[in-house]
Amino acid sequence: MNHFEYVDGALHCEGVPLERIAAEVGTPAYVYSSATFERHLDVFREAFAPEPALPGPVLVAFAVKANANLAVLATLAKKGAGADTVSMGEIKRALKAGIPPNRIIFSGIGKTEEELAFALEIGLHQINVESRAELDLLEALATRANRRAAIAIRVNPDVGAGGHDKISTGKSDSKFGVGAADALALYLRAAKHPNLDAKGFAVHIGSQIRNLDPLRAAFLVLRKLTEDARAQGASVERVDLGGGLGVPYFHEPDPPSPADYAAMAKDVFRGLSVSLAIEPGRLIAGNAGVLLTRVIRIQERPNRRIIVLDAGMNDLIRPAIYDAFHELRPVRQPSRETEREAFDLVGPICETGDTFARGRVLAPLAPGDFAAFMTAGAYGAVMSSTYNARPLPAEVLVRGDKFHLVRRRFTVEDQMALETIPS
Ligand code: LLP
Repeated sequence: MNHFEYVDGALHCEGVPLERIAAEVGTPAYVYSSATFERHLDVFREAFAPEPALPGPVLVAFAVKANANLAVLATLAKKGAGADTVSMGEIKRALKAGIPPNRIIFSGIGKTEEELAFALEIGLHQINVESRAELDLLEALATRANRRAAIAIRVNPDVGAGGHDKISTGKSDSKFGVGAADALALYLRAAKHPNLDAKGFAVHIGSQIRNLDPLRAAFLVLRKLTEDARAQGASVERVDLGGGLGVPYFHEPDPPSPADYAAMAKDVFRGLSVSLAIEPGRLIAGNAGVLLTRVIRIQERPNRRIIVLDAGMNDLIRPAIYDAFHELRPVRQPSRETEREAFDLVGPICETGDTFARGRVLAPLAPGDFAAFMTAGAYGAVMSSTYNARPLPAEVLVRGDKFHLVRRRFTVEDQMALETIPS
């Protein structure tokens, strides 16, 4: 569901015209709709509503990597969301936003000793162990600290999926998880360790997935592992299905709905008596945010016209690294009669890769006009950088007819304050 609509010709986020935000906060700025975040969480909850053969509730652990803003996390925390985290930084953010440790999952292949010790000390819902070496370390740390850690083994199901090679994680040649045979062996070993509480298996095969078949194939691997582990006397209480469900970016057929996804998952796990966790990131945050930008100038070239925006690849890097499509909507709605034309959309960074689109057909924009890149709430602000000594974009959260600056712009003075010139 989308809370970014035109009202009287002005693009709004909920009850706030984006022009007002641009005037008060400046551009580029990410603008988020609280109602959309809350709605998307509810959509998953409703889709996964418990039923007798599949007792709930499901843990919806929002993938913090998609949008780590504290106000966003707090919005989700208040509605009961958990967090999927991949670093001590993300765990600290989740805790600060009010997500309790027993709703936090810790994933990732590069967890350091310091991070694992921290996770042990807090006592998380689950640590998703991704290798034998990680299990060795965790056993040693848990024994030394005299703590007991809830763990799952992340399986690599050898299934290809995802909107782009760079965001596909479930093939056997990827760096994530352990193959099914090793996963079973590691699980049985963990189940016997006095300082580990072996809870189940986890999987995550990729992102922006637009077809349920690879997900089903991966979930069947989890089901089989659960049955095999139980057959060998180990208890398995949980399975963690990861994230990955795609969102509509408005230029290709819509991906399956959360309802279809949940129906498929329930179908796979029905009767198995396990509780489910899911780790959606993009689906919760993607369409909850836009990147608001201003046209700096139009460059005329012999055979093309280029719109130079004040947002660059440092603010929204997805088109540069994944060839991702983000629709650009003018903040002032053009009249129906306005003839659309083809433009290249670029940022100010000194790289050809700083191109959001080539030959994009839209109603002409003029210098000073505001426009919004849609579906930018996931993997937008979190992937921004200060390349070219540019400020990090501001972030704004809207609720109803009010908005709050939830991250002020990180200026060049802020950046320089961290640096010193040795005498
Ligand atoms: N769980 C784990 C273990 C993950 O690695 C990820 C994403 C998720 C959950 C959430 O996946 P989602 O529901 O958002 O698809 N920067 C890329 C996306 C990278 C995703 C990495 N892992 C992009 O902008 O498309």
